[in-house]
Amino acid sequence: MDQLKDYEIINKQLETIINSSLDEIFVTDGNGTVLRVNPTSEALYEIKAKDLIGKNAQELAKDGLYSPSLFPIIKERKEKVSMIQRTRSGKTVHVIGNPVFNSEGNIDIIIFTSRDLTEIRELRDKIERTEHLLESYQEELAELRRFQNKEQEDFISYSPNMRKISKMVEKIAKVDSTVLVTGKSGVGKGVIVSNIHHKSSRKDKPLIHVNCGAIPESLIETELFGYEPGTFTGAKKQGKKGLFEEADGGTLFLDEIGEMPLNLQVKLLKALQENSIQRVGGTKSIDIDVRIIAATNKDLEQMVEEGLFREDLFYRLNVIPIHIPPLRTRQEDISYLMDYFLNKFNSKYNSSTILSLEVENALFNYDWPGNVRELENLMERLVVMSDDQEIQLKDLPRKISNSFKEDSKYFVHLYDICTLKQAQDAVEEQLIKKAYYKYKSSYKVGEVLGINQSTAFRKIQKYLKTESVD
Ligand SMILES: Nc1ncnc2c1ncn2[C@@H]1O[C@H](COP(=O)(O)OP(=O)(O)OP(=O)(O)O)[C@@H](O)[C@H]1O
Ligand SMILES: [Mg+2]
Repeated sequence: MDQLKDYEIINKQLETIINSSLDEIFVTDGNGTVLRVNPTSEALYEIKAKDLIGKNAQELAKDGLYSPSLFPIIKERKEKVSMIQRTRSGKTVHVIGNPVFNSEGNIDIIIFTSRDLTEIRELRDKIERTEHLLESYQEELAELRRFQNKEQEDFISYSPNMRKISKMVEKIAKVDSTVLVTGKSGVGKGVIVSNIHHKSSRKDKPLIHVNCGAIPESLIETELFGYEPGTFTGAKKQGKKGLFEEADGGTLFLDEIGEMPLNLQVKLLKALQENSIQRVGGTKSIDIDVRIIAATNKDLEQMVEEGLFREDLFYRLNVIPIHIPPLRTRQEDISYLMDYFLNKFNSKYNSSTILSLEVENALFNYDWPGNVRELENLMERLVVMSDDQEIQLKDLPRKISNSFKEDSKYFVHLYDICTLKQAQDAVEEQLIKKAYYKYKSSYKVGEVLGINQSTAFRKIQKYLKTESVD
């Protein structure tokens, strides 16, 4: 009686084990008659257990429930067999058929266990696709970083401050000293850096732009210094070069340097002092030949005082400081930038938009809190929105048109003392050029400048050094 109870308990345990398996368990007798299946089996074939039990395994295969059938092979070979099966419900499964023999050496039962590969395969495909995508994005990003500033950008500098900076750039380009470019957002820090690089002997090597504020803190270190194989989970098997190594021979532009975490500032300082780096997880020193240019719109000296930026690093970066003043303090640049962007976007959009004198007046007197970037964006919008017309005050955003000043005069800036005749000639040249670039017709130039058309025609020919004048 006790023995029966024991069997009952064992049977119950066995049933629980079979039923809780994620793999399919499917048992037949030696003739292939189904004796037992578990719930996974029901799900796999989308058929109830009661409709499977008592049926013949080979018949089920003939009905197309799964294919191919393992039963005849096991029967013939009398050994364990495994293969890939397809089910009627569209699944791909890996089946193992295990024969169990009785004392006479005949097959007593066969235990089939199968694992659904569909999901695993789908996941594997998905991972492969994602990995490909990730790789192509990484390549694209590296490419972008390397070539984003391939072309030397135009750099408009007519105000005394900017002319000074422009001269400095020429000199700075010839040496390898570290430069710190400061100035509010949109003043043109990026343009200056790209100019320094492209005027330097490093111009054929990469200019790599790192935005320290845009990379998550946890990634900056490996981005900059790279890592050795097996440094952390998810890392590339073969390790990875950092941007210091990528920029070898060229220029590394550390933008928004004020955002660099303090612990990394130490490592950066060490790299700058020793001209060598160590990859994360590595011990080998790698020599680097990189020019560093940093930029920020933060007040780094203030940050040093507040303990947010290391003093030693600040001095190491600030070897050559360039401060770009806000646009509103360099009015001469405003009018040239206005013309420059107008031309740029007119050719980009195949348009011929012009600005009325009132609009020029308003732009000239506006504050430009967003600096050159704001001016550039406005010009693009005006060109895109206008249908080749002359832009009027009413077409400007209210805050800008409000800057129009009735009594404001155009002023001519003198860079140095010269003779009256030299000053008159210089103003005449600028006036003629400006008017002709704007109106592209000697008739209109004459009218706007209050001179007759033939005089305008002659002067345009003279200053533009061209015969073909409209
Ligand atoms: N002197 C200039 N001549 C021509 N284009 C300029 C000049 N200064 C700025 N720009 C243009 O104005 C835009 C803003 O400049 P840039 O991106 O260099 O500013 P930034 O100081 O780096 O700003 P941020 O601090 O926001 O990064 C750019 O499209 C740039 O080409
Ligand atoms: Mg910038």
